[in-house]
Amino acid sequence: MRRGGDSGAEANEAAFRVARGATGRRRVVATLGSFHGRTMGALAATGLEKYRKGVLGLGSDVVHVPFGDLRAAEAALSEGAAAFILETVQSMGGALMPPAGYLEGLRRLCDSTGAFLVFDEVQTGLGRLGAPSAAQAFGVTPDLQTFAKGLGSGVPIGALLASPKAAAGVKVGDLGSTFGGGPLACAAAEATLAEVAGRKLWEHVAAMEALIRETFTMPGLTRIQGRGLLLGLVLDRPAKDVQKALVAKGVLTGTSEEANILRLLPPLTVSAEEVAELRGALADVLAGAAVPA
Ligand SMILES: Cc1ncc(COP(=O)(O)O)c(C=O)c1O
Repeated sequence: MRRGGDSGAEANEAAFRVARGATGRRRVVATLGSFHGRTMGALAATGLEKYRKGVLGLGSDVVHVPFGDLRAAEAALSEGAAAFILETVQSMGGALMPPAGYLEGLRRLCDSTGAFLVFDEVQTGLGRLGAPSAAQAFGVTPDLQTFAKGLGSGVPIGALLASPKAAAGVKVGDLGSTFGGGPLACAAAEATLAEVAGRKLWEHVAAMEALIRETFTMPGLTRIQGRGLLLGLVLDRPAKDVQKALVAKGVLTGTSEEANILRLLPPLTVSAEEVAELRGALADVLAGAAVPA
């Protein structure tokens, strides 16, 4: 089943609703450090306190467990949950990779406890990890998958993919909004998907990741984590200062919840020349040549 909405948050809300409807259970297990959107259900699942602060009554049916901790996941799921939702690579968390065996372990735990496994692919989907989706990148199939962000190339759209089992009880009208799945947004998504799939853009993403890993060796940059073009550069100094200096050079990067991690999420079409430009600017900034006043 595929279902359209207008945003990533809405796609995640739809996933919760489908999981709760199909299982007859209320509890949603999510991971600390995650971001799932700003609507009430998506915010309740978000594991970053700064976004939840000041919003009363969130999270009565949501339990957060540490990302990567299978024992904690098992304990939370064993009490009976509708869903386990996660970003397979935690983006705001600093492009944090899942430990080896984690996703497979979650798949097994969800199978044995009857919970639905939900991959929030709002950032990881559509080729960003160097594969069509995170599910394909890691070889683990969730029950529910949510997409948004680049799906409409700028036209607001979110989507939920559900396995036949998860979708079995969904009736027409259960999930919907006035503009959800409208013709403009769907045409934009179709054109985007045709372009991404037609060009196998994820292969270019993998090539650009390799280029970054090969050429970004410079003092001040300790390590690169993440996958594809969702990368966290672990610096020896606050990323915010480096980000500011890069903006002054016309280069946009992101920070994260980890003070020393600079996030890179360039367009999937980023060229080798642009990667070289970023490398040069970053090397200059880290060498102290362009520290802002
Ligand atoms: C992983 C993830 N999930 C969900 C969302 C929410 O998407 P939207 O802003 O379209 O509601 C975001 C937004 O940044 C996100 O990064």
